[in-house]
Order: sequence, then C-alpha cells, then structure tokens
Amino acid sequence: MAELEQRGDRTPIPAAWEYASAPESREIVKLEERYGLFIGGEFVEPRSGEHYKTLDPSSEEPLAEIPQAGPEDVALAVGTARKAFSDGWSAASPAERAKYLFRIARILQERSREFAVLESLNGGKPIRESRDVDVPLAAAHFFYYAGWADKLEYAFPHRRQQPLGVAGQIIPWNFPLLMLAWKIAPALAAGNTVVLKPAETTPLSALLFCDVLRQAELPPGVVNIVTGDGATGAALVKSEVDKIAFTGSTEVGKAIQRELAGTGKKLTLELGGKAANIIFDDCALDQAVEGIVNGIYFNQGHVCCAGSRLLVQESIYEPLLEKLKRRLTTLRVGDPLDKNTDVGAINSRQQLDKIEELVAAGEEEGAEIYQPPCRLPEKGYWFAPTVFTNVAQSYRIAQEEIFGPVLSVLTFRTPDEAVEKANNTPYGLSAGVWTEKGSRILWMAQRLEAGVIWANTYNRFDPASPFGGYKESGFGREGGLHGLEPYLDFREDSADVIGG
Ligand code: NAI
Ligand code: MG
Repeated sequence: MAELEQRGDRTPIPAAWEYASAPESREIVKLEERYGLFIGGEFVEPRSGEHYKTLDPSSEEPLAEIPQAGPEDVALAVGTARKAFSDGWSAASPAERAKYLFRIARILQERSREFAVLESLNGGKPIRESRDVDVPLAAAHFFYYAGWADKLEYAFPHRRQQPLGVAGQIIPWNFPLLMLAWKIAPALAAGNTVVLKPAETTPLSALLFCDVLRQAELPPGVVNIVTGDGATGAALVKSEVDKIAFTGSTEVGKAIQRELAGTGKKLTLELGGKAANIIFDDCALDQAVEGIVNGIYFNQGHVCCAGSRLLVQESIYEPLLEKLKRRLTTLRVGDPLDKNTDVGAINSRQQLDKIEELVAAGEEEGAEIYQPPCRLPEKGYWFAPTVFTNVAQSYRIAQEEIFGPVLSVLTFRTPDEAVEKANNTPYGLSAGVWTEKGSRILWMAQRLEAGVIWANTYNRFDPASPFGGYKESGFGREGGLHGLEPYLDFREDSADVIGG
C-alpha cells in the first residue's frame, strides 16, 4: 500500500488525458493539378473553357482545378452515353454487365484507403467515417446490384423489363462517393448508360472513380462524369436524357420537377428531411444517447435523414439531457484526417453560413443553446456540436433543415403526442424510435410518415434496404429491389401470365 502511494507521488495523474494526434497520410492520394470531363472513357477539355478550384474545407487550401461544364459539354456527354447505349451496352448479356459491376466493387475495395483519404480531404468528413462507412457501403452497393444484373426476370416475374436509355444523375456533397454508387450501380445493372454530375464542392472522388472505370475496362461512354455547379445540373436536366435521378435540396428538386413536367422523362427525387428521433422512457438510456449522437453529429449533421429533432418523453428529459451533454464533451472536433476525430469540417462556406444563420434564429426565437467546450481550428469551416433546448415546434430550428451538427430538443408525454409532433413537418424521410417494447415500435412505425424508420438504432444503411421519402422529402426509392424499378420500363407480359 505504502509502495503504491509512493509510486503515485512520483507519477501524478494528469488533469486531462489528451489523445496524441493520429493523422492518416495524404501520400496515398495523387491529385492532378487540373482535371478534364470524363466523356467517352477519357478526360477531355471542357468546351466551355471554364474551370474553378475545389478546396479542402478544413484548411481552405485549393486542391485542384475542376471543369465547369457548359450545355455543349453536357450535350456531348449525353450523346456519348446514348451511343454507348445503342452500340452494345443495352444488348450486352446481363452476366456481362454484372461482371463489370463486380469488378468496380472489387477495385473500390482494393483502393479503399485512397478513396477514404480523398473523400475526407475534399469533403471534410472524419476519416473514421469515410473509411468505415462511405467507402465500404459504396463497394457494397456495386456488389449488391451486380447480383441483380442477370436476375432481373426473377426480380420482376411476368413483367418484361427494358432499360430506359440514358440516365442523368445529379448528386450532393454530403456523401459524394456513396451517392455516386447509389446512382450508378442500379442504373448499370438495369442496362442503362449514365451521365453523372457530382456536387461542385466535392468532385474529386467521382473523378478518381473514372480511373476505377478504366481499370475495370468498362466500355467507353457507359459512364460519363461532368463536373460543374447548379448551372451544369440544370443543363443536364434540360438535355436529351431519359431519366433524372436527383439527390439534394427540396428547392432544386421542385425546380427539376417543374422543368420535367410533361416531358415524359422519368424522375426520382431524394430531398431534405427533418427527422424525429423519439426516445421513450423505457429505453436503454445510454444506448439511446449513442444513437442520438450518431443521429445528428455523424458527418457533421450533413445527412438528409439526420435525427435533427429529438423528441424526449418528459419523464426522462432531465437524466437524458444530462447524459447527452456529458457525452458531447467527449466528442473530438478537428482534422478530418485524424483517426480520432468524431466531427470534421463543415463542407463549405455557404453551408456554414446557413448553419450560423439558423442557429442565430434559434437563439433569437428564445431557445437555449448548449455547446461543449471545444477549440475550433482557425482556418477552414467549423461548427461546434450544438444542442438547443426550450424549443417550440414553430421555431425555424424545429421546422427547417439545418444540415449541420445542431440538435433541437422537444418533449412529449404520450405516444400519440410523439406521433403528432414527429409528423408535424413538411418532410418525411426518416425517424427513430427508442423503446424496449416491440409492440410500441410497430405501433409507432405504422403511424410515422417517414420512408425509413429505425428502431433502437439510427443511420444504419444496407444496399438491400430501400431508402427514400414522403411529402417534401421526395419520391422514388434507392437501394434494394425498389431501387431497380426507376431504371426500368415495364411491359406486362400477358402471354407469359396466361400461357404459364
Ligand atoms: P443543391 O440542391 O443546390 O445541390 C445538390 C446538387 O444539385 C449539386 O450537385 C448541385 O450542383 C445541383 N444543382 C444545384 N442547382 C441545380 C439546378 N437548378 N438544377 C440541377 N441541379 C442543380 O443543395 P446545396 O445548395 O448544396 O445545399 C442547400 C441545402 O440543401 C442544404 O443546406 C441542405 O439542407 C439541402 N441538401 C440536402 C441534401 C440531401 O441529401 N437530401 C444534399 C445536399 C443539400
Ligand atoms: Mg443550391
């Protein structure tokens, strides 16, 4: 005993345990100074002649120059995709299509570290997430749809399916590679060709993906990547594509729907959300706290299905908030490439401005703000994990999608009240329910207006499970069998049905 005390004197316990920094090396990623548009299997100079710089949002350091494709470039890409469609891809045997999808999946796995580093570098998300979530799930999507490519007749029995032609796909910046996989994998499995436009702030993983396509020896023109901002996206919507698949803001989604009305082009929209994460008093509290944190601070809250409205049953409000606040003090905010980082950089100046504006509105309207003490880097775009209490349903922070690490806490007494509050939103993408009672989970799931409902977990994804929304969160499903349908035309095969 005396000996122990003595030793204790010699090595005093430090007041705070600090993590050593554990940065992932950037060396594995080789960036070009300037990229071209990927059309017909090669990088070409944009006819528009315009480029812009893409940044590392954690340092504001420019990473590369990216083409701003104009309408002429988009038309070239769509024409090339059309030619690839009729020159062989649509008639290729389904097993052949599957082969390419398998190859792409394998190469993504082989190059996963490179993709993870690049995704964090260009997007600001923690390497732990890009390494453990974004990249493995992207590969999983290609594996999954590779499996369906030669089984479409079993997927949709008694219905004769045909590919649509050229799919125009517009994706956002919050999961650049994963959204690319969600879009490209089912489109190719169904026999379409593709023109994809990545978001302006995060084009690099899509451009690296072009190299994967070349390695996989995918026939030229089957997948084309055109970079640029909203104007490029608008040009793609107006172009001669057969279908648009869009993930992004509700505002742009509505504009696209107006533009396409009456054209006969197919459309799927995956838009915003304001999900309720509902905590009943019989749940496992510590587990729920982890689920709340994962629900709203994962990817800095840049998640359409983020659990941004916490609905807590009144009887556990105080202990839950105490546990949640304590947990927030342990979140590490900082360098996205550090393996210990939990919360990385905000994706862009524009997004940071939006978060700051909504948080200011929350304070003005009378909500109470809590942020754990944390030192934010001086350069780059950062926002501390934030919790608002004393929130009324009418406040902007309870109504509008913030798309940042900001949680609004509301309370309820009865399951009916929880349902009413949860559904009191123009959105309907996702929801979470935390309770020990299975019957209550089912009761809630029947009443919640949301495309995805998680029970005693949150933000879990699987390529076999369809994802998509109701109301202003859009329509159409991605993932699973449902995710193939928007890429196929069906003719009922009556002879087959009658003749047996
Ligand atoms: P956005 O909807 O403007 O951008 C998403 C994609 O659409 C990007 O590739 C963009 O270049 C393209 N785009 C923009 N205008 C277009 C147009 N007129 N026609 C065709 N394509 C167009 O989203 P933004 O401005 O980056 O973010 C604003 C808000 O939208 C966010 O704060 C968030 O609330 C929400 N959002 C939701 C996402 C989701 O996953 N559902 C993803 C990104 C943003
Ligand atoms: Mg926008």
